[in-house]
Amino acid sequence: MSLSKFVTLFASITSLVSAYNPQLAFNNAVEVETRTIDEIYQAALKEGGTLTVWHGGDEKNQQDFLKTAFEARFPGMTLNITVDLSKYHDVNLDRQLATNNVYVDSIILQTLNDFPRWKDEDALLPYKPLGYESVYDEFKDADGAYMGLFIIAWSESWNSNYVNASSAPKEYTDFLKPQFKDKLVLTYPNDDDAVLYQFDLILKQYGYSWFEALLAQNPRWVRGTATPATLVGASNGTYTATFTSSIGLAPSSPMNISFPTDGTFVSWPQTGAILKDAPHPESAKLLHSWMLSLEHQGGGWSTRRDAPAPAGYPGIMEMNGTDPTKFSKWMIDRAAVERLRFFFEDKIGSAQGLSPLIDDL
Ligand SMILES: *[C@@H]1O[C@H](CO)[C@@H](O)[C@H](O)[C@H]1NC(C)=O
Ligand SMILES: *[C@@H]1O[C@H](CO)[C@@H](O)[C@H](O)[C@H]1NC(C)=O
Ligand SMILES: *[C@@H]1O[C@H](CO)[C@@H](O)[C@H](O)[C@H]1NC(C)=O
Ligand SMILES: *[C@@H]1O[C@H](CO)[C@@H](O)[C@H](O)[C@H]1NC(C)=O
Ligand SMILES: *[C@@H]1O[C@H](CO)[C@@H](O)[C@H](O)[C@H]1NC(C)=O
Repeated sequence: MSLSKFVTLFASITSLVSAYNPQLAFNNAVEVETRTIDEIYQAALKEGGTLTVWHGGDEKNQQDFLKTAFEARFPGMTLNITVDLSKYHDVNLDRQLATNNVYVDSIILQTLNDFPRWKDEDALLPYKPLGYESVYDEFKDADGAYMGLFIIAWSESWNSNYVNASSAPKEYTDFLKPQFKDKLVLTYPNDDDAVLYQFDLILKQYGYSWFEALLAQNPRWVRGTATPATLVGASNGTYTATFTSSIGLAPSSPMNISFPTDGTFVSWPQTGAILKDAPHPESAKLLHSWMLSLEHQGGGWSTRRDAPAPAGYPGIMEMNGTDPTKFSKWMIDRAAVERLRFFFEDKIGSAQGLSPLIDDL
């Protein structure tokens, strides 16, 4: 075969393959954003100034601080943000995709398994925001389809009015002490996959006997991961500790936190993507570029290599007791996740109560 025929043949095979495989067809040539944040802001204003975001979480007001900060930073912009469980946002987005009725601009979710799938379905806009190069490779799609915007982690949390420093929990085995009998509030592992992963890690380390001993402590099981911290923070001492909430690295008194070092805790990059059919793509780009900026990162653990570590802690990649890259791999195996969910459902029953968004806890 002549070289030119070979080249032609190769080109047609390549185009066949890329037509067949959406991964290859994906526009991986997208460049990192070259505009300044203010230039993106001007483009966003021209779109009308409102963008719609679906954010994972379990209390309606959980992202109010983000809305307030964004709108203060970019006057004229409105962040129409809706918080719901990631596992509900994703299936509702699937419906928008199936009916060609995408009205969400950006999604920021815990269900890390969804992003590669949506990329394969060509549902995501390739976009590399300002700061993209500084995001750890492990937290970002090489084509810019999605990336971790910040880190969330469960901590061991207690109310220091009722738990003194010498008896504060350090490892998961500490929650089995007599002082925590009837005093624990925990999120149903069978209602939240990041809590399920926590229980999976703990049982792999300490065995089923740890779980039996935990059940003997008579914990209160609740929906949502904000609810345990709310109940533990109440001033009547009915509940004193939890390990299924995330209350930040500098909690306000009387709450206090720690992270296990023998045991493993769950952390992950909360991941964002812009929809390919987003009605306000420039506004979504503004949000993602701003969320990743060093101006906005800070306080908590960052997905950026170059962000300063939070006060009192090393960066998330240097933190003992966690591996923030593992949750996405665990989430991808939906069959294993489902088996585990039913394992816990069998032991503690199906999650009871209203959605944590509309319960009053
Ligand atoms: C705001 O978001 C909600 C929920 O996604 C949506 O129903 C509503 O149409 C949006 N409002 C505007 C003004 O875009
Ligand atoms: C701390 O709390 C534990 C458990 O309630 C108790 O046994 C211990 O005496 C307390 N220590 C101090 C110094 O108060
Ligand atoms: C929080 O707990 C840690 C570990 O038990 C302790 O060293 C620290 O003093 C506590 N902080 C506050 C503000 O109580
Ligand atoms: C303590 O406060 C919590 C949260 O408000 C409530 O659920 C619980 O019933 C209270 N306990 C008592 C004994 O009043
Ligand atoms: C992490 O663990 C290692 C080994 O135990 C220890 O030397 C190091 O100081 C720990 N790092 C932090 C930040 O706690």
